[in-house]
Order: sequence, then structure tokens, then C-alpha cells
Amino acid sequence: MRVDFNIEEGEIINKNPRFLNAVNTIKFLNNHGAKVVVLSHRGRPKITTNYKLQTTNYSLKSFAKALSNTLKKPVHFAGLNDKNFREKIRNSKSESVFLLENLRFFPGEDKNDKNFAKKIATLGDFYVNDAFAFSHRKTASMAAITDFLPSYAGPNLEKEIKNLSSVLKNYKKPLIVILGGVKISTKLGLIKNFFSKADYFLIGSAMADNFLVAQGLPIGDSVYEKEMVPFAKKLLKQAKIVLPTDLVINNRKILDIGKKTEKHFADIIKYAKTIIWNGPVGRFEIPKFAKGTQTIIEAILKNKNAKVVIGGGETIAAISKYQSVISKNKNIFVSTGGGAMLEYLSAKKLPGLIALHNTNNTNR
Ligand code: 3PG
Repeated sequence: MRVDFNIEEGEIINKNPRFLNAVNTIKFLNNHGAKVVVLSHRGRPKITTNYKLQTTNYSLKSFAKALSNTLKKPVHFAGLNDKNFREKIRNSKSESVFLLENLRFFPGEDKNDKNFAKKIATLGDFYVNDAFAFSHRKTASMAAITDFLPSYAGPNLEKEIKNLSSVLKNYKKPLIVILGGVKISTKLGLIKNFFSKADYFLIGSAMADNFLVAQGLPIGDSVYEKEMVPFAKKLLKQAKIVLPTDLVINNRKILDIGKKTEKHFADIIKYAKTIIWNGPVGRFEIPKFAKGTQTIIEAILKNKNAKVVIGGGETIAAISKYQSVISKNKNIFVSTGGGAMLEYLSAKKLPGLIALHNTNNTNR
């Protein structure tokens, strides 16, 4: 079972939605009698100057412990040199759980290497992809493996596709896209794909700085992407781009949207029937600059008529204290995908999904 345990260093593992979702699928498979071998990558380990792989920071060992605590059963962890792993799996009793070390410690993973995929495939009888957040990567455990095992989409992956495709294809108007975070370049595809569909783009954080520069306004020492300014200028010709009209500034840096903008954004959110949100609108990690982002989530929660999808690691962190209210609201879907959500909403074909789609389970 492929999952995405790529979670920020320092984050509490057993509170992370990617981890909790994986736990639910493991339980489901176990309850149906299956042994589960969990596969994941973590971080982007590199070869260091002394030709050693950066393994310590990125090991998945602590995840085996977290899984074991949450599932309340032993979770067998296979390190890099565990040669008898396959035999251990074969000889274990049903409903056992295993976790393999970070797949990115093996060069074949990122190369989508067929031989590596074949090797991982010998660990099981069926393959389940429940790692939507990694679907935009063509790696051995996401793509090539589907050539060697009967392959299926996991429940979390299915849920992501169901919710994201509903705002992509069956959205109701008014459709509002809220964008924040640091880079406009990573959201280019989404902006282009939704430009004719959306009624408004509400833009905050460093994303907005590009537009302010495009209008010839000063931004002090705030960051922006110089090469994106011509694109921002082009978009500004349409009335759809809604920018902050007042700002919270500290030490010559723009750190949040101002009060007037909060109200303006909340007024637009009130009438939306579809909302897509990726990226906080301020430096939410510092409480006094989190107000704008809080106003947005509160306005979303007040709107009882909109289908909402929220995604991106920072956005999820920014709204974490609203987690229990959000989870009770059936209209709001919080995606575990960062890059994968942006690519899916850009209408790109994701390699992990193509591989599942092309797999022919009936001929095996
Ligand atoms: C993510 O966390 O968005 C995915 O796991 C992708 O990770 P990557 O950008 O390191 O490939």
C-alpha cells in the first residue's frame, strides 16, 4: 500500500491528516484479513559530499513506532539492509503490518525503474495506491509497480478525486479562488485553468506582491517573483483579480491583509457557491499576522451553501485550530495534496493516476 508520509520535520506524526488517513486504510485492509506492507518516501534525501546518503533525517523508523502506537499492534520495520523482509512477510500471520524504509533511499524509486518496481512488487499480492499527494510524481512505487501487480485506488485517493473533480468539472457559480503563500509560479497552472471559470480571485500574502509591483506600487522589502510581473500585469486587465487595499506592514515587509481587505474578502466569500483555497494570506505562524487567514476560514465556515476545497501544507497548518469544526462540515474538503492538488486543478494528467487507469487487472 503506497501512502505519502512526507510530512514536515517537527510535526507531530499521529496528528497529521496524511498519517491518520493511512491508518484508516490499513485498519480497513487488516479487517478484511490482509497483511499490509506500507510504502512511502519522505523528504528529498541527497548524496552528501562524503558520498553518503542523508539517511538519518529522513528515515521512516519513527513512523513505524507511531503506526504501532496508533494501531495498537506491532509494526515490523525494514531498514535498508534487511534482506529477510520478504520471508518475514510471507511467514507472518494475517493482519500483520509492515513498513519499508524511505523509498527515496533507493535510486530506482525516483527513476521509475522497472527492476526496482518488480522487486517491491514481490512483497505483496495486490497493490493499493492511497497516496494522492504523490500522484504528480512518476516513480517506481507509483507508476512502474502497476505493471507487476493487480492495482487499485485506495479510499483516500478516491475521496480526493471525487472532491477535486467536483470543483473542476461540476462547480456552481459564483466560483471564488483564494490564493496566498509565497510563489505565484507554482499556482500558474491553476490560475490559467480557472481564469475563465472563476468569478473572482482573492489574492493575499507574497502572491499579491507580484500584482502590487505590476501596478507600480511600492512593496518595501517584501518578496515577489520578478519574472512573474508581466504575467500579473496581463491578469490585472480583468476585473476578476481582487487585491488587498490595505495591508499590515512590519519592518518594511507586508505580513498580512488589512481590516478593510478582510471585510471585502469576507463579503465576496459570503455569496460564493464554490470555493477553492490554497495558501494563507499572511504570515500566519506569527499570531499577530494570522488575522487575515482566520477571517477567511471564519467566512468560509459561515457560508453554508458553498462546496469548498482547501489544500496546501501551509493552509492546513494555518487552519488547524478549526480542524474539528471543519471535519463536521460535509461541504468542506481538505485535500492532503500540495503540489498534487495544484496540478490536478490545473487539469494536468497525473502519472500516478494514469498508471492506475492503464492497469489491466483482469488479464492477470
Ligand atoms: C508532497 O509532500 O507534496 C509530496 O510528497 C511530493 O513531494 P516531493 O515534492 O518531494 O516530490
